[in-house]
Amino acid sequence: MDINTKVIFTFMFWVMAGTRVQVEGHMCLKPEFYQNMRIGEKLLGEPMVYYQAGGLLDCYRQCGFYSLCQSFNYDVETHQCELLGLNNTNTEPVLNNIIMDVSNRQNQLFGSCKNHVCPSNTVCQVEDSSHACVVVGCHGNPDIQNINITSFEAKSLWFFNETVLYACEAGYYPSINVTCSMAGTWSPFDCLPFTGCERRSVCSGNATAEGEYWVFSRKLGDFVKTYCSSENEVEYVTLHGINTFSTPIFLKDPVTCVQVPVTPKLPSMGYTDFQKAGVGLFQKRLYIDAFRYSNSTFTRQTFGSAGDCVDNDVNDTNSDCRLIGRFVINTNGTGLRIKSSVTWETWGVGGRVGNITRSQDGRRIEGYCGSVVGCGGCRPTELLIERDPNYTPPLDSATLIRCKAP
Ligand SMILES: *[C@@H]1O[C@H](CO)[C@@H](O)[C@H](O)[C@H]1NC(C)=O
Ligand SMILES: *[C@@H]1O[C@H](CO)[C@@H](O)[C@H](O)[C@H]1NC(C)=O
Ligand SMILES: *[C@@H]1O[C@H](CO)[C@@H](O)[C@H](O)[C@H]1NC(C)=O
Ligand SMILES: *[C@@H]1O[C@H](CO)[C@@H](O)[C@H](O)[C@H]1NC(C)=O
Ligand SMILES: *[C@@H]1O[C@H](CO)[C@@H](O)[C@H](O)[C@H]1NC(C)=O
Ligand SMILES: *[C@@H]1O[C@H](CO)[C@@H](O)[C@H](O)[C@H]1NC(C)=O
Ligand SMILES: *[C@@H]1O[C@H](CO)[C@@H](O)[C@H](O)[C@H]1NC(C)=O
Ligand SMILES: *[C@@H]1O[C@H](CO)[C@@H](O)[C@H](O)[C@H]1NC(C)=O
Ligand SMILES: *[C@@H]1O[C@H](CO)[C@@H](O)[C@H](O)[C@H]1NC(C)=O
Repeated sequence: MDINTKVIFTFMFWVMAGTRVQVEGHMCLKPEFYQNMRIGEKLLGEPMVYYQAGGLLDCYRQCGFYSLCQSFNYDVETHQCELLGLNNTNTEPVLNNIIMDVSNRQNQLFGSCKNHVCPSNTVCQVEDSSHACVVVGCHGNPDIQNINITSFEAKSLWFFNETVLYACEAGYYPSINVTCSMAGTWSPFDCLPFTGCERRSVCSGNATAEGEYWVFSRKLGDFVKTYCSSENEVEYVTLHGINTFSTPIFLKDPVTCVQVPVTPKLPSMGYTDFQKAGVGLFQKRLYIDAFRYSNSTFTRQTFGSAGDCVDNDVNDTNSDCRLIGRFVINTNGTGLRIKSSVTWETWGVGGRVGNITRSQDGRRIEGYCGSVVGCGGCRPTELLIERDPNYTPPLDSATLIRCKAP
């Protein structure tokens, strides 16, 4: 016999066997019953449930009991029964397979579950004269903000204790591992934005590699392009322009204003260039104490400060020599800028704040500071930052983390 005949033969055998095994009493299956059946085809898509059936009718009944089951694949040789959810309509030719549409549940095969309207995440169970709806899993999206809807809808039925691997949309992570509870509901969770580099460790995979990430600042109310090191100790912003701070290694003669190189250097003297600035996204300010991505010659200078020294052995009256301590802050290209309200205060002996100029776009601030009698200068009171209203770095210039549950 050719393969098609064999399939039909086997199929008929199982229909008969199944009918005898499962249908109590005498029951005639009307010809319409077979109208929704296709032999030699298989529905594509991820089955909701796999079931080792006792026969074609067993598979048919199982599908009818599952509220979400619309159709099934039945393998006539292995009796593997695959229950499929609502939207599986595409098929491929598979010789040993039968597909059947079970959207009409009027058949007497379903006993008291005939025409049941059990909730989506349940299976109808025949009881003596009535039926029960037994919860078998979870279905649908939880009503929570920033979830990954595609992920929840990837399966029509999730089983108890099953974990949703990508529960939240990019940039957010689930507060707990999102699983289907035994009650058929999603475990309560929130999708939280990544508010710091160290949060990346709740996700599995490569999310802890160092690099540029979009990190959410509650203070700024937005994602900020942030550099995360593998140590996660602090968030950084990568600077593109020159950011340089100095207390030059010269003593100014208070009378002649000649700058004389000094050895040994005085403790405050040095030069520091920053390639990245530590940023307190919670505090909404640039840190002045993160030196990881900076290089210095002599004593390192804090971000935002500058100063100089007068040779007060020569003369102890106030010098009016120009201030040679210089600082340049350049946040161009970061998407952030220093607030215009930021002020500089003096430090040291005889510190003075000289001219400070801020570019029109607020991205570059240059200033001169120093002392008139000893060693001193200026430093910002607090480097408050704000979003650069006219510039946001390109979305693809940093990673928006897709958080995978462990
Ligand atoms: C299934 O199809 C229906 C109607 O075409 C649609 O409303 C529904 O969103 C679809 N569900 C999924 C999970 O794709
Ligand atoms: C799900 O997990 C709970 C708690 O760990 C356990 O009691 C229960 O048996 C599990 N259920 C299934 C179906 O694995
Ligand atoms: C959302 O879920 C889909 C399906 O699980 C996954 O492919 C995608 O990467 C997820 N997106 C995020 C941002 O996790
Ligand atoms: C998620 O599950 C993993 C593995 O079971 C566990 O190590 C981790 O602590 C869980 N995370 C949370 C937030 O419960
Ligand atoms: C992990 O991230 C690093 C840096 O972003 C990248 O070079 C590497 O290819 C990634 N590895 C995997 C396995 O994705
Ligand atoms: C920092 O390093 C750069 C490049 O090597 C160099 O040009 C610069 O002078 C250094 N700055 C300081 C303050 O040492
Ligand atoms: C300090 O300089 C002033 C002005 O140059 C001068 O008048 C004064 O005598 C000097 N004092 C000392 C102690 O050298
Ligand atoms: C600021 O003062 C320094 C000397 O302290 C001077 O060299 C510079 O030209 C001044 N800049 C402006 C814009 O006035
Ligand atoms: C910022 O960078 C842009 C392009 O690189 C440049 O045109 C602009 O002049 C820079 N602004 C400042 C303040 O440096």
